[in-house]
Amino acid sequence: MTFQVTISPSGRQFQCDDDETVLTAALRAGLILPYGCKNGACGSCKGKVSAGQVVHGNHQQKALSDEEEAQGGALFCCAKPQSDLTIEAREMLADDDYPIKKLPSRIAKLEKLSDDVMLIELQLPAAEKFNYRAGQYIEFLLKDGKRRSYSLANAPHVEGPLSLHLRHMPGGYFTDQVFSTLKERDIMRFEGPQGSFYLREDSDKPMILLASGTGFAPIKAIVEHLIHIDSKRPVHLYWGGRRPQDLYMHALCEEWANTLAGFQYTPVVSDANAEDDWQGRTGFVHQAVLDDYANLSGYQVYACGAPIVIESAKRDFVAKSHLPADEFYADSFTSEADLAKN
Ligand SMILES: Cc1cc2nc3c(=O)[nH]c(=O)nc-3n(C[C@H](O)[C@H](O)[C@H](O)COP(=O)(O)OP(=O)(O)OC[C@H]3O[C@@H](n4cnc5c(N)ncnc54)[C@H](O)[C@@H]3O)c2cc1C
Ligand code: FES
Repeated sequence: MTFQVTISPSGRQFQCDDDETVLTAALRAGLILPYGCKNGACGSCKGKVSAGQVVHGNHQQKALSDEEEAQGGALFCCAKPQSDLTIEAREMLADDDYPIKKLPSRIAKLEKLSDDVMLIELQLPAAEKFNYRAGQYIEFLLKDGKRRSYSLANAPHVEGPLSLHLRHMPGGYFTDQVFSTLKERDIMRFEGPQGSFYLREDSDKPMILLASGTGFAPIKAIVEHLIHIDSKRPVHLYWGGRRPQDLYMHALCEEWANTLAGFQYTPVVSDANAEDDWQGRTGFVHQAVLDDYANLSGYQVYACGAPIVIESAKRDFVAKSHLPADEFYADSFTSEADLAKN
């Protein structure tokens, strides 16, 4: 059965089948609602149903609690309509220059950036033009309908293959293969670009860029894009890892700090060993930002990586450092492990 969905306050409408999610139907209609993981783990797609009923599939309580659901809260990546709906959601600009495509690609390069991080370069078909915004991600289309999300690590203007930074999740369906059997010249299908995490170019606010682990990938794309457009916005990049080797492009960040006006870089390590001889900041990366910035009211924050870091950063930056909640942009790198936590 098909239902009509009306977005408030814009009044825009689209059709949604009862066996598809509101987000899927909105994207198909060319309307972009905020989203990240698309699997009920991150909370980026949260909005309200002000009229009508939805049913939610499997999702995490911390993304949408029972109490929020009882008050009309909805995760549009999981919510399927049971009637015509009016929903309250922030719409993003839809842009015909960034169509979501399913594409084949060839693995042009596989290179370990550290013990558990792999650089994958994807070569697209020669005639294919793939447009995206700095910060967005793609989804690999795997066997049995499985999908796995990876952020694009190079800026959109860069010619040549697409770069991704993949962390090995031991026992993981996809990355176990990446670190064992996957080889150069293999063909991979993906869908993209995806996500509402990207640089807001209509702002001139100073920025905090916060990366944990491979969360550096989309942050790298954003910095390269800022350089490309000759941005004058002040930027403070914080990159957190457990050990110094987790900061697998530390030298590049230092080079940015040494050569770009208004660019600061603070690496933060949480579990350094004595043999690491780490002289820099220690502790949690989001805490380092709090220690340095008592007042973030005039800032934008772009944060990517481990879900716990993203949650803590959003909560504490808003509560303790006066960051406006709608100036916090993030992709939380959720996986099957996070979905299983419910
Ligand atoms: C928007 C977005 C962008 C992302 N970008 C990146 C990126 O640029 N780089 C990056 O490294 N990661 C990124 N991620 C995270 C990445 O997509 C996940 O880590 C991915 O799911 C790993 O795939 P996998 O098949 O190897 O592991 P999965 O199969 O997802 O398993 C992950 C872990 O969970 C465990 N697990 C699986 N099933 C269960 C279960 N039922 N119960 C308990 N544990 C379980 C596995 O053993 C494994 O350790 C991103 C995620 C999102 C949502
Ligand atoms: S919870 Fe819906 S996009 Fe992550």
